[in-house]
Amino acid sequence: MHHFKFTLLLFFVSVINFPFAEAQINVIPSPASVDMMHGSFNMDKSTSIVLVDDILKLNQKEIEQFNLWMQLQYGIKLNQVNNLKATANTIQILSETTESEKYELNIQGDKIKIKASGEGLKNAFETLKQLMHVNKKDEQFLIPSCFITDSAQFKWRGMHLDVSRHFFEKQYIKKYIDYISMYKMNVFHWHLTDDQGWRIEIKKYPKLTEVGAWRKGSMIGHYTAHQFDTLNYGGFYTQEDIKEIVAYAKLRHVTIVPEIEMPGHSLAALASYPQFACTSATFEVEKKWGVFNDVFCTKPETFAFMEDVLTEIIVLFPGEYIHVGGDECPKERWKNCSNCQNLIKKEGLKDEHELQSYFIQRIEKFLNKNNKKLIGWDEILEGGLAQNAAVMSWRGIDGGIAAAKQHHYVVMTPGTHCYFDHYQGNPFMEPLAIGGFNPLEKVYTYNPIPSALNESESKYILGAQANVWTEYIRTFKDVEYFALPRMAALAEAIWTPPESKNITRFLINIQSHFGYLDLYKTNYSRSIYNINYTIKKDSLNGALHLNLSNVLFENNAAFLGDTIVLINDEKLISNNNESILLNKSFSGSAQFRRKSAFLGKATPIEFHYNRATGKEISFKNLPSEYYNKGNLTDGQKAHFPRINNEWLAWSGQNMEASINLKDTLLLESINIGFLKNEQDWIYLPSDVEIFISLDNLTFVKLDLKPNISEHKGKHIYQFEIGKLNAQYINIKATCAAKIEASKPGAGENAWLFVDEIEVE
Ligand code: ACM
Ligand code: ZN
Repeated sequence: MHHFKFTLLLFFVSVINFPFAEAQINVIPSPASVDMMHGSFNMDKSTSIVLVDDILKLNQKEIEQFNLWMQLQYGIKLNQVNNLKATANTIQILSETTESEKYELNIQGDKIKIKASGEGLKNAFETLKQLMHVNKKDEQFLIPSCFITDSAQFKWRGMHLDVSRHFFEKQYIKKYIDYISMYKMNVFHWHLTDDQGWRIEIKKYPKLTEVGAWRKGSMIGHYTAHQFDTLNYGGFYTQEDIKEIVAYAKLRHVTIVPEIEMPGHSLAALASYPQFACTSATFEVEKKWGVFNDVFCTKPETFAFMEDVLTEIIVLFPGEYIHVGGDECPKERWKNCSNCQNLIKKEGLKDEHELQSYFIQRIEKFLNKNNKKLIGWDEILEGGLAQNAAVMSWRGIDGGIAAAKQHHYVVMTPGTHCYFDHYQGNPFMEPLAIGGFNPLEKVYTYNPIPSALNESESKYILGAQANVWTEYIRTFKDVEYFALPRMAALAEAIWTPPESKNITRFLINIQSHFGYLDLYKTNYSRSIYNINYTIKKDSLNGALHLNLSNVLFENNAAFLGDTIVLINDEKLISNNNESILLNKSFSGSAQFRRKSAFLGKATPIEFHYNRATGKEISFKNLPSEYYNKGNLTDGQKAHFPRINNEWLAWSGQNMEASINLKDTLLLESINIGFLKNEQDWIYLPSDVEIFISLDNLTFVKLDLKPNISEHKGKHIYQFEIGKLNAQYINIKATCAAKIEASKPGAGENAWLFVDEIEVE
């Protein structure tokens, strides 16, 4: 039986007095301007809404929506009165004549005055709803008196959702739109088609959904594991569904931008109508994630097909933009297709990149003729941008900069800050994701205006959006987890003016905002409470220290009394401060504690103290500059999913490590961890040799074969030495030969990934 001796180490982290502690409202995104006043408005079930203007009839829908919400959340139906003199305990709505997202909200004395119309009125109600929730006391809402004037920093405030890789039923799309509207965002970019599924009914081409909406299996686990299930998977939206969702979005002042992918990411369409491919092959709706060589051919029939599809799309979606994808289109098929090559000659194009540009330009002319604007991923810049096209910059910000300099409109959505399919916490504590690292506080720092643009060029930046690609996001619960609360951070980054942004306030507000999301039973991530740790080596004496941290402490957003608690089952020698000396093995966890509650997940910490721990290690060949952050003697084994900075790696070069144990020690065994992952070009060493020495001059080569054990691709090579004295150990791991022809990365140098070296 395992005796769990509960040892708590408390970290008393000083909480600096927070400048916003007094009179401060909690609304996300934070309004552009708030003047706090004394007192509060006490709202309750006897509060009525006063309709002051005739113009108000235009806003009946917004008022209805608010009242429906009141009934749903609190069982209160506010009275509507027409009497101008009824001022006490009222919400008065004074409509603006022109609709915009702006609003004024004046909460004072015995009334609330709202000045807004349409989208602005909806936004005022979103603010009021959040204020009510945080200020609810029993049956009343004690809303602090304040004067809010609010408007958006950017015009395009979007959220994307991929429904091809995984399909989400109509009711979930509506819930996604609710979140968009809640955060005063206004664009829903609906990624409706891709290789793994076509999700929208097109009357003229019924096979797009009869065939294209269904695949015969999906990947399980990470792409790199290359495993599949054999389940039939699919679904699609009928045109009736689409109309219903478009109307639902309109009521919430959200515009839908549908995306129909072309010319790449088109296997679901080609599985349905193979005649639009370059070859005479037949295709299946794809089970694997990735980028595929079979794409739409540029023959005339394809354009006729695309125009037919877009004709139906244009009717369904009233917004001004249609997204046509344009990303990740390999040119392999076009290079070997007589149709495509003839078109290149006929149009005097330079190459296949110009052919892609021709494709997009031709589609743009069609859209423009039908009063729609084209937007596409930044690849549409290659070979020349279509005349009026807007660009969505996803491969970093360079595409956005180039487009803005050419006076084209841009939506920023760089992978660094706007990909919400990336990890938001330690990968070993999060649901499986594609990779990357994009925590809440990083999203918050995002500024869509690149410094490379001058003021007039900056005007072409319409705004930003986050993308939720769903290869690893199977259910709507998972969509919520990946999207929230990061969506709140992005909303504030693009709504609130930069001078009103404050990471401390945001991180404090988001914690009580979690209670608001609870009203919607949202499966938001609580990863901000998780504890991160590092093991640092004292450069003077080589001692190792464990440092625990958390984003809330780092940003002054923890509450008085919050602590980080280290839990272990052995006595730990500690200097009882933020940094703990590690001089023996440790197995335990760290967790955030508020009052008596543990928040977030416990972070497991495994530290294996051995004779190499903290000892000096040097390398004859330096590791690759891309993978040089790891430490092979820090007592820490690398985690899975892989975190690159926990490894050292060499490409086409051997690892030749020298360890100085500082003293002559009796050695029994040496363990070395190597990774094997052929998808990522990572191979085991072809040979591992060990040399030991007493004086660093004369080395003896040990004639040993390792015992090899494997877990998740990590191979531990264990060398049993017997008992030998040594102070110096040299280890030579020979990098595998160049990658063979049938494997990913064929002909390239193999990578050698190493972590960790343990000596007993
Ligand atoms: C993209 O992520 N392929 C736009
Ligand atoms: Zn072709």
